[in-house]
Amino acid sequence: MTTPKTSLTGIKPTATPHLGNYLGAIRPALRLAEQYRTIYFIADYHALTTLRDPQALQGYIYDVAATWLACGLDPERTIFFRQSQVIEVFELAWILACLFGTGHLLRGHSYKDAIAKGQKDPNAGITFYPILMAADILLYDTHVVPVGKDQKQHLEVARDLAGRFNHHFGPTLVVPEPLIGEAPLVPGTDGTKMSKSKGNTIPLFAPPKQLRKLIMSIKTGSEGLDDPKDPDRSTVWQLCRQLAPEAAGPMAEKLRRGVGYGWGHAKQDFFEALDAELGPMRERFEALRGDEAQLDETLAAGAAKARPIAQATMARVREAVGIRRPPCPPKETLRLKKSGGGG
Ligand code: TYM
Repeated sequence: MTTPKTSLTGIKPTATPHLGNYLGAIRPALRLAEQYRTIYFIADYHALTTLRDPQALQGYIYDVAATWLACGLDPERTIFFRQSQVIEVFELAWILACLFGTGHLLRGHSYKDAIAKGQKDPNAGITFYPILMAADILLYDTHVVPVGKDQKQHLEVARDLAGRFNHHFGPTLVVPEPLIGEAPLVPGTDGTKMSKSKGNTIPLFAPPKQLRKLIMSIKTGSEGLDDPKDPDRSTVWQLCRQLAPEAAGPMAEKLRRGVGYGWGHAKQDFFEALDAELGPMRERFEALRGDEAQLDETLAAGAAKARPIAQATMARVREAVGIRRPPCPPKETLRLKKSGGGG
């Protein structure tokens, strides 16, 4: 029997997950659980680049955890944990940082986006972001990374770093491939990429009333009720096709025909189909989200499985770069100075 390849991905807990996260990462990642060793995690330290509200962060971590589980992640089969519970990631990030030019990081989109949003002096975490992400990936001998198209540049950094490391120190790290699926960039309510920072998201498990309101706010063309309309160019239909495919065919036909079928009707049909589709998962989400202690336990059990993989990689990496650590002497042979002495 051959060892299965590894699929790994992460979500940053800076908001409750939205349809873009689901279609771009969660759903494709879960579909890989049959053929791959799957390692999925919550990138909580990445969230600190933008989030300064400890309570909100804690809440989003549980939201992301409950979302994955509600969508079908089986923690017996997938190693599922918090990034912060495997601290080897910082050691690898430092080693990788020493191989990468600062100029590359300043051209990266996490830094450039912050500048574009008017930040005069983005924090060093934003600049360093792609290196920590590369460490997340390379630490676990990852072969494929299911992500949305917006993460492609970060994946290039991870590939580049694995290549540089192997070039300098000999073959040590697996070079990962991005896996960008059938929903590379899901549009938000304004028709541009759905993104937490743009305020155009539709949360995956929004209660029905909020879900309907958000769907009704999706931007559409200005065609009249009886005009023929092009489904291919509409966000409502794009989302419907991905999320409720059985409703998408009839909707496309009615839009093209026009007669008596306006954008409001299409949105209502989409809402009904989506609500029916997501309803059972939403119920599971609410039950899981209500038991934080259980979520902590699940994530800690996942971290216990992830850590030995990370430790094995780090042993190889340290050896390769020449950081050999002699084993610590037994405690009783250590002479601890009581106080003072300095220097
Ligand atoms: P994050 O939290 O912004 O997004 C999580 C995943 O959702 C995908 N995604 C989308 N896909 C399609 N259309 C959209 N509108 C859309 N919005 C978000 C993202 O592409 C991503 O796959 N840097 C990562 C988190 C991370 C990570 C990692 C990912 C940290 N370490 C290692 C993979 C591997 C991020 O901020 O994703």
